[in-house]
Amino acid sequence: MAENGKNSNLSKAKTGKNDEFYTQYHDIESEINAYLEYDQNVFENKTILLPCDDPEWSNFTKFFAQNFERLKLKKLISTSFAPESKNIKVNYQPTLFETNNPQFDKNKTIVNGKIFTLTHDKNGDKKIDVNDLEWTYLKGDGDFRSEEIKKLRDEADVIITNPPFSLFRDFLAWIVEANKKFVIIGNMNAITYKEVFPLIQNNKMWTGSRFNKRLNGKNMTFTVPDDYALSGTEVEMSAEGKKMVSVAGTGWFTNLDHGIRHQFLPLMTMADNIKFSKHKEVKGKEYQKYDNYDAIEIPFTDAIPSDYNGVMGVPISFLPKYNPEQFIILGATQRGCHDKVPDTKKYDDYWEVKQNGEKTGSSGGKTNENANLTENDGKKNYFINKEGHIVQSAYQRIFIKHKK
Ligand SMILES: C[S@@+](CC[C@H](N)C(=O)[O-])C[C@H]1O[C@@H](n2cnc3c(N)ncnc32)[C@H](O)[C@@H]1O
Repeated sequence: MAENGKNSNLSKAKTGKNDEFYTQYHDIESEINAYLEYDQNVFENKTILLPCDDPEWSNFTKFFAQNFERLKLKKLISTSFAPESKNIKVNYQPTLFETNNPQFDKNKTIVNGKIFTLTHDKNGDKKIDVNDLEWTYLKGDGDFRSEEIKKLRDEADVIITNPPFSLFRDFLAWIVEANKKFVIIGNMNAITYKEVFPLIQNNKMWTGSRFNKRLNGKNMTFTVPDDYALSGTEVEMSAEGKKMVSVAGTGWFTNLDHGIRHQFLPLMTMADNIKFSKHKEVKGKEYQKYDNYDAIEIPFTDAIPSDYNGVMGVPISFLPKYNPEQFIILGATQRGCHDKVPDTKKYDDYWEVKQNGEKTGSSGGKTNENANLTENDGKKNYFINKEGHIVQSAYQRIFIKHKK
């Protein structure tokens, strides 16, 4: 991944140096509305857990507390991670909300997480909302992996949050082992993890209503702490003067149903694609077969032919358009994910060459299991064997078939 611009935000987050990205209210609202549009009772009588949150000012807590009655919730639980565990012990400033409360404890405020719960109209104003939240310190630091938070997970019906990017895999595994419904934020790159892809393939997880640039063609933006080190063009300031960063390839993953998931992708036949495609890579060309998979290469999701019955390799940006009534996902090019579409050839006796003819010193084994095409596009490095057979690898591909 490029170490500049928008992607460097994700790299920082993935290394755990910066997990402090906060979700905007309108992003939460529009995502949750998509599930409600599909099933207005989806949250009725449910206990919702918002872990990895900062309930005093989190928009997740605000949104679900303010909409407690509209969503007909049974219980809302929100927990935070202790400042000391976040490594912000030195400059940690508790909020006035906390210091003005009789239960304020200057030790616990640093080493313990907090738990906020909402179940009933505590203040007697005849509505249940953010003013009825009750809070206390957790016994531990609020780590989602602790027994204390696991118990809350087990009590919950739906888990909703933007988990720490650096722990995305662990967080997802934590949800899946308890077999819970979830709506969480993650990055497109997560799809290629071998722990994640089988969930997508088996329709146990899918992209949410918003994924990547679907909204106004823009990436999702998150607010970050004031001391977040800015690096270039990815930064914006919110109307309230808060620092915000935009993170490419980010969106929601879920196992709750929504309408977009059932929309059929309008497609042209193969012949019409070749005649009319807007992509120069498709127009006037034959669809290519891979050198090492029994499948054809589809470089763009909108170039999937409506009348091809075999296996097709599509970009991972296909996933937000995936409708399980229209397609079957058979696998992906990454290791351990293509049992149903096995690679038919290895490249250990090939070597890698730059466009200027120089050998890189790498063996062709490097391109094993990639989606390889018999071509030299004049741009990328290629792999060649002693018979002069040349291949180049396409980007990561997902193998799909039309559902007939
Ligand atoms: C990406 S932020 C999102 C915060 C909030 N949910 C939001 O979207 O506004 C993830 C939060 O998880 C916290 N965190 C990091 N590691 C954690 C862990 N092991 N258990 C619980 N929370 C953790 C981070 O400190 C950070 O506040």
